Amino acid sequence: NEIQLFCPATIANVSCGFDVLGLCLESVGDTMTVTKTPEKGIRITEIIGADLPLETEKNVAGVAALALIEALDPDFGFSISITKNIKAGSGIGSSAASAAGAVFGINHLLGSPLSTKELVQYAMQGEKLASGTAHADNVAPALLGGFTLVRSYDPLDIIAIKSPTELYATVIHPQIELKTKDARSVLKENISLKKATIQCGNLGGLISGLYTGDYDLIGRSLHDELVEPVRSILIPKFDELKAAAIAAGALGGGISGSGPSVFALSKGLTTAKRAGQVMAAIMKDTGIPFEVHVSAI
Ligand code: HSE
Repeated sequence: NEIQLFCPATIANVSCGFDVLGLCLESVGDTMTVTKTPEKGIRITEIIGADLPLETEKNVAGVAALALIEALDPDFGFSISITKNIKAGSGIGSSAASAAGAVFGINHLLGSPLSTKELVQYAMQGEKLASGTAHADNVAPALLGGFTLVRSYDPLDIIAIKSPTELYATVIHPQIELKTKDARSVLKENISLKKATIQCGNLGGLISGLYTGDYDLIGRSLHDELVEPVRSILIPKFDELKAAAIAAGALGGGISGSGPSVFALSKGLTTAKRAGQVMAAIMKDTGIPFEVHVSAI
């Protein structure tokens, strides 16, 4: 009648896959308890570690859960209690973790009538509330783990992407809040054919590198023609952070989701930790408080 969940943080976009590519940080995340209740509906009973609304319709977990029970119509309800470790507006999928956890927990308590992939569309409703857009590049990896590709939004087509075991992610989170909604409003509506060509080459290269375990190819492909040039201006020391991580041996990096977190991918835990240390040294100089996470994917 109750399930306790780990709700992982995620890195969306992964440089060349705006709104389509994401990865799951195995060891960074929130925890959640979902409990069956005799009364119907969804109640958010408690949120520890963040100042977020408890009203179901204003809460990302609540909205995602409502979308799911509307589809499945169970004759009982659920209460949800969340302990947030992922800060809102951090760029590592705080809202996605809650939305994904809620639908996963409820589906489990109902005997798993839906596949994990089928849950993505309901978790996306939480993202719509949080950012104004029902993007799936955080909720899909939060639910499925590893790397995921949104091959298509309409119809929704989520693909799990294999990745090599030695790949680690480093994330530095300068503690300034950047709302996804705001970070999306600065983006251009149109892109040039030339930029689209470069982006397609890199996205294909990254997917190929992940499948074949070609770390150099992964590194060569971690570029973003479309979003990073516009958004990086909002992130203190972005260029220095990325360059330092690469100089320390990381394969490449970029903005995590809509920022302000900056990520790097590395072959091996030692290099990933070193990338974290050099980025931390740069961030220390700014006086902005920050957190560093190193995680397997
Ligand atoms: N793809 C989304 C964006 C991710 O970049 O706006 C938000 O975490």
